[in-house]
Amino acid sequence: MNLMQSIPLPNVNVPVPFSPEQASTFAPHVDALYVYLVALTAFFSLGITAAIIFFAVKYRRRHHGELPRPIAGSMALELTWTIIPLLISMTIFIWGASIFFKAYRAPREAMEVYVVGKQWMWKFQHQTGQREINELHVPVGVRVKLTMTTEDVIHSFYVPAFRIKQDVVPGRYLQTWFEATKAGKYYLFCTEYCGTNHSGMGGYVHVMEPAAYQQWLAGGAGAESAASQGQKLFQERGCASCHQVEAGGSQGRGPTLFGLFGRARQIEGGQVTADESYIRESILNPQAKTAVGFQNIMPTFTGQLSEEQILQLVAYIRSLQPEGQDAAGAGATSSGSATTTGGVAPQQQRSNPVGPTGERQGSPAPQAPPAGGATGNANRR
Ligand code: CUA
Repeated sequence: MNLMQSIPLPNVNVPVPFSPEQASTFAPHVDALYVYLVALTAFFSLGITAAIIFFAVKYRRRHHGELPRPIAGSMALELTWTIIPLLISMTIFIWGASIFFKAYRAPREAMEVYVVGKQWMWKFQHQTGQREINELHVPVGVRVKLTMTTEDVIHSFYVPAFRIKQDVVPGRYLQTWFEATKAGKYYLFCTEYCGTNHSGMGGYVHVMEPAAYQQWLAGGAGAESAASQGQKLFQERGCASCHQVEAGGSQGRGPTLFGLFGRARQIEGGQVTADESYIRESILNPQAKTAVGFQNIMPTFTGQLSEEQILQLVAYIRSLQPEGQDAAGAGATSSGSATTTGGVAPQQQRSNPVGPTGERQGSPAPQAPPAGGATGNANRR
């Protein structure tokens, strides 16, 4: 069906395609820019080579002792070959920047997946609780937002068919997103040398038709949602002894966490938005940004929680919202839990900023997810 799929990894005896299959809404945009760059490069390379040859012949020395005529400067010429290249390079800059912003500003409404890189594997956790290693199942035609970090060294997450690539850096959350346009199996791998088995740090993204995806989700119906796993941790680690989580709860020794996510927050000496990164920092390094009106008494949890557990706590804190309220106050880093638990409502997600790129986009959304069906269990928090 596709070239990437037909390449058995250890077997190098396969034709290398000029470019990987286009399987996301970004892909045609990235490829168009690439073709433009190649065409531009070819045009100038050929033009300059031709000019060199032409002038070399035309102005060759014709007899011994010939001296070239001195040449005075030409303002018109200088301006021309400054301004035209400037305009051309600006087209590359503007075009490239617009694609970059689309790719690296995650949309508010998207199905969210947490990604943790580790020597040498990719770990994925869906909001509905399913966990995968080196495999990621997503529905076709739905925006998928990845919030990513790493347990050890820098890795880089790359899916050539989607034309997305994002480094993951220890101690930080980074985000990228994609919308797959074709069902299939697409190679993903690490593109940052990260040690002995770097080359084996790969797997597949399985893009599925919505119905098949529902089935896949139902298969993991027993899985506990990320938020409820986080809730358990919250109790186990004693967070609850200082932090209120109920609506209208009074402040304890620590700030109440209800309705916190995505909101602006007063801290000593400034203001921050309570997004994933802020919550992570507050768990690991509570002294860094103390909420106004509270004492600096929270112990650090550095070394006591894995990156996955921290992400579960983030998912839990994020779920502490008034009913039906969108927590997407934090711009690129947040989204309402209501819109992301299932993440399988393609018809709500058609307004892709990158625009329609294939016949799939125009077709009616196949099979709305059943309201209380197979996914009901998996999605319920
Ligand atoms: Cu991870 Cu290379």
